Amino acid sequence: MTTVLQLPAVAGTHVTIRGLHKSFAGVPLYQEFNLDIPRGKIISIFGPNGCGKSTLINMISGLTAIDSGEILFDGKSLKETDIGYVFQNYRDALFPWMSAWDNIAYPLKRRGLGADKVKARVRELADLFEIKFNLGLFPYELSGGQQQTVCIMRALATKPEILFLDEPFSALDFEMTLFIRAKLQEANLLAGVTMMIVSHDLEDAVFLADRILLLTRRPTRVAEFMHFDMPRPRAPEAVSAPEFIQTKSAALQIFQREMRS
Ligand SMILES: Nc1ncnc2c1ncn2[C@@H]1O[C@H](COP(=O)(O)OP(=O)(O)O)[C@@H](O)[C@H]1O
Ligand SMILES: [Mg+2]
Repeated sequence: MTTVLQLPAVAGTHVTIRGLHKSFAGVPLYQEFNLDIPRGKIISIFGPNGCGKSTLINMISGLTAIDSGEILFDGKSLKETDIGYVFQNYRDALFPWMSAWDNIAYPLKRRGLGADKVKARVRELADLFEIKFNLGLFPYELSGGQQQTVCIMRALATKPEILFLDEPFSALDFEMTLFIRAKLQEANLLAGVTMMIVSHDLEDAVFLADRILLLTRRPTRVAEFMHFDMPRPRAPEAVSAPEFIQTKSAALQIFQREMRS
């Protein structure tokens, strides 16, 4: 791959994307796309249906090959970087033949961690996520919200430096959405893990974000990379605060402008 660092990385950057190109069946999705993703922040990705939100996090996380360009994590390649990924559909994401506990322990065991260390880390995660159900249960015995919680615990098990989540709330009820919103914030504050969260719901997107990445229709560009500095942890009531409403409406205006153009 050729080095195309035309633009210097911005200070505090975790992921640097330079000169990214991606087409599907000859139709360009990303062309000469550049982006700096700040370290330790929660980034929400919002944009029109089919604009390439999932493809963007899939290219960064290596699930989808890029055509050309460069993606670096602190100057390192993906191979040298520990990442976590929470899939859009939790129903298919867990190993059905393993208990919840074994699902969470799986990436730790694969690393060759000793049994005591595995147990300690699973317990730590169970505390963080205030788990009140039996982790000995199998995925099919859990509610959707419980399954999604297990998916997130598994993705965080190895303490990745960056976590990708594709529409983590799309199949959750409101109570569970509030819970997962709170827990993702806690995990971010506790471990400083960078999070990139795809959302089709503007309220979810703004609620969690330090930065809101607004994308255009394809070929996809950055319409705006907004800041939202409301203090954390943000309580559910934050959605009624003037600064929240203001940011959400500013994002909506940019979205609508892009839809019209
Ligand atoms: N594997 C693929 N093969 C062909 N086209 C694809 C593939 N993945 C995504 N696309 C196309 O790329 C565009 C962006 O898809 P996607 O990233 O899933 O959008 P979003 O998540 O923003 O809704 C869509 O037009 C989609 O049909
Ligand atoms: Mg998608």
